[in-house]
Amino acid sequence: MSNPDELLRIEGIRKTFPGVVALDSVDFDLRRGEVHVLLGENGAGKSTLIKMLSGAYRPDSGRITVGGKEVRIQGAQDSERLGIATIYQEFNLVPDLTVAENIFLGRQPRRFGFIDRKRMNSGAAELLARVGVDVDPRTKVRELGIARLQMVEIAKALSLDARVLIMDEPTAVLTTEEVDKLFRIVRKLREDGVGIVFITHHLEEIAALGDRVTVLRDGRSIDQVPASTPEDELVRLMVGRSIEQQYPRERGDAGAPLLKVRGLTRAGTFHDVDLEVRAGEVVGLAGLVGAGRTEVVRAVFGADPYDSGTVEVQGKPLRRHDVNAAMDAGIGLVPEDRKGQGLVLDATVQENLGLVTLGRASRAGFVDRAGQRRAAATISEQLKVRMAGLHQRVGTLSGGNQQKVVIGKWLLADTKVLILDEPTRGIDVGAKVEIYQLINELTASGHAVLMISSDLPEVLGMSDRVLVMSQGRIAGELAAQDATQDAVMALAVSAAATTNTAVKDVEVSRGH
Ligand SMILES: Nc1ncnc2c1ncn2[C@@H]1O[C@H](COP(=O)(O)OP(=O)(O)OP(=O)(O)O)[C@@H](O)[C@H]1O
Ligand SMILES: [Mg+2]
Repeated sequence: MSNPDELLRIEGIRKTFPGVVALDSVDFDLRRGEVHVLLGENGAGKSTLIKMLSGAYRPDSGRITVGGKEVRIQGAQDSERLGIATIYQEFNLVPDLTVAENIFLGRQPRRFGFIDRKRMNSGAAELLARVGVDVDPRTKVRELGIARLQMVEIAKALSLDARVLIMDEPTAVLTTEEVDKLFRIVRKLREDGVGIVFITHHLEEIAALGDRVTVLRDGRSIDQVPASTPEDELVRLMVGRSIEQQYPRERGDAGAPLLKVRGLTRAGTFHDVDLEVRAGEVVGLAGLVGAGRTEVVRAVFGADPYDSGTVEVQGKPLRRHDVNAAMDAGIGLVPEDRKGQGLVLDATVQENLGLVTLGRASRAGFVDRAGQRRAAATISEQLKVRMAGLHQRVGTLSGGNQQKVVIGKWLLADTKVLILDEPTRGIDVGAKVEIYQLINELTASGHAVLMISSDLPEVLGMSDRVLVMSQGRIAGELAAQDATQDAVMALAVSAAATTNTAVKDVEVSRGH
């Protein structure tokens, strides 16, 4: 072995699935005490590569060496024995077990043959404190929000005391504050000599945390560069071209109001929310995590109830808590949790793309299957969904490509008012631009778009008006030309300041 710091090496790895070459000759190596970033477009093969190390998949050909010795990683136990811990892009926790049970799954501390709950819970509490997350270890995982789930996954991986830690998009669902905590943990592990494989679509994280970057494109490792490489150069390497304009906003004059919300209130959650979205307009809904944005749009869409207030679509009042009524009136919602609410993972790409339109057509008693197929083919091409074909199961698409299918499903539904909740989570920089262009097409043809995003540059770059929520209320509105990060942030913390809540506990939306 040439480098004594080398922890592991991958040479000429190839992996195919029916109809797809996921990896085609990939080289990669990891050293002690480094953060090695894997960078690549959606579907480039990042998750597949790390699954060879975690034992989830076996390579068709190629070599993996750990500490200079060739190894065969046949399953999770092999991986663990080699000192490799993995945090997957898809959550791997068991919803009906407690946080502590999940952390120690399969290796619970025992006493006289019984699981020692006391020791398990206190061990879990210690690990949770180490990642700085305030969760009772006895809570059922099902009750946790998506960001806390991720922090529990991280605590679980740390409990393995691994030499190699693999993190597949750990920051995608975290708030800025949690990202900071995570970075502190990762830096500490690096100092202790752990080697970390880190996958992210947030390019600014690369220089902040990384040492080396391996770029994957179409299943090949095409280059290895230092993490200090400028972002536009990284983009060029990963997508094969440069991106001139990250936020290609084009907008005509706004038309009549399509969505009108007045005095919407649910006790303890949101209060007196007024908002309006006109034809041809994109309205951004900004705010801190926990400000009530998702709760408001779910109520508007009929997914959750509200206590008082009104929702009107094109001048007609909408029944409360009735998703079918909302969809028939022309409202669509791309939810923040694609696994839980957006997709049927066992169904094909085409079936998922047709879910909304099919439901509507069969209610009307007429289904045009050939038309559906054509529409599915067109939208998946526009969104550049990387797949073997429309018959691929959605569950086997890469994370970013699954997200594209959720968005595609609603674009096909031809809704008048489209609500997007964190639409570009897990989407690569190139594909984001395609999605923004589709938003432009929607507004040009008279649709209205309401967009929640914790990616502040995205909200500022694509919205015509920005509404800022703070503690369940609309704290203010900014026109596109006045909406700066500072102006948004000032409004976002305004209610917290006036009610004298500890502002330091407030989590700030991610700014780049
Ligand atoms: N079990 C599977 N069956 C069929 N195809 C698969 C399977 N797993 C992965 N693929 C395919 O392999 C390719 C690479 O997917 P992978 O998940 O590695 O991408 P990725 O780089 O992690 O992308 P993302 O940034 O979207 O997460 C994709 O075309 C995907 O559809
Ligand atoms: Mg992936």
